[in-house]
Amino acid sequence: MVDSLKKPGFEELRPGIKVPAKDTLLTPRFYTTDFDAMARMDISVNEDELKAILEEFRADYNRHHFVRDTEFEQSWDHIDGETRRLFVEFLERSCTAEFSGFLLYKELSRRLKDKSPVLAECFSLMSRDEARHAGFLNKAMADFNLSLDLGFLTKSKNYTYFEPKFIFYATYLSEKIGYWRYITIFRHLEAHPEDRIYPIFRWFENWCQDENRHGDFFDAVMKSQPQMLNDWKARLWCRFFLLSVFATMYLNDIQRCDFYASIGLDAREYDKYVIEKTNETAGRVFPVMLDVENPEFYERLEICVKNNEKLTAIASSNTPKFFQFFQKLPYYVSNGWQMLRLYLMKPINAAAIEGSVR
Ligand SMILES: [Fe+2]
Ligand SMILES: [Fe+2]
Repeated sequence: MVDSLKKPGFEELRPGIKVPAKDTLLTPRFYTTDFDAMARMDISVNEDELKAILEEFRADYNRHHFVRDTEFEQSWDHIDGETRRLFVEFLERSCTAEFSGFLLYKELSRRLKDKSPVLAECFSLMSRDEARHAGFLNKAMADFNLSLDLGFLTKSKNYTYFEPKFIFYATYLSEKIGYWRYITIFRHLEAHPEDRIYPIFRWFENWCQDENRHGDFFDAVMKSQPQMLNDWKARLWCRFFLLSVFATMYLNDIQRCDFYASIGLDAREYDKYVIEKTNETAGRVFPVMLDVENPEFYERLEICVKNNEKLTAIASSNTPKFFQFFQKLPYYVSNGWQMLRLYLMKPINAAAIEGSVR
């Protein structure tokens, strides 16, 4: 009785298989693209760098890394209540994001196989990595008596279409932000082993090197397509993608600050550090960076955090749905306004500071 009270109830598809979290603006997405256009891309101006990256992928440094050790073999029932719910949610979100990479890269490798062999093999080897990452996370979920049916997820999720250049902006950023997220958690727990309440974090150091290499691959692909980086449209789109990725992460993580607290991290400090580092990294390939040091940046995001708290409170109230819409409207409008103002903030010209911060 007490036990069942302490364990948060998750909806199950069948025993032990979790119903995937509902899609919202802030949940990880699955992507599809124009495969023919990608196959037609001429990568010759940067082919040497891409071949060097392919050699790194072939070396498969993490071949023996994703093996669970005996530390996992114990009961995790002492992680209970809200911490357990947040933990499972963290594992599910991470697993879904990794699996989303696997599906996209796998499909790209299949579609490019005969037409663009270097890219096809890179995608194939990256999908190998993402499958390991997703699988490792799914096994971790099983330690909490739940797992995801990845076949069901493949069929049931909506796929977002992005043209190739948007795929590159988005995946480049998600790989690099993934690198900074994993390494920051790893380094924190290395310094504070008492906060490492579950073993998976010990794997993050080598794991994040996979993400770093994946990010370098997309960096090299974009450099082979200078038209994706050097005109006014590229500057506007890079701003858009930087802002969406940073804002999504910030709003998600602040909502789940108790999860970060459970491993001894302050969600705000953690996110600000990850955003600063990813922004700096992105400046090596994108023509612009965001001015994240301007206090306005986080002031506006904090208004969105407050708006989202209000929206959640309204959604869980007893007010009929029809009236809820009118209660919610001003907060949606405010969120839209904040995002617009954030987008219009003066960016930093990445080329202009070449060699100074980087
Ligand atoms: Fe990954
Ligand atoms: Fe990756």
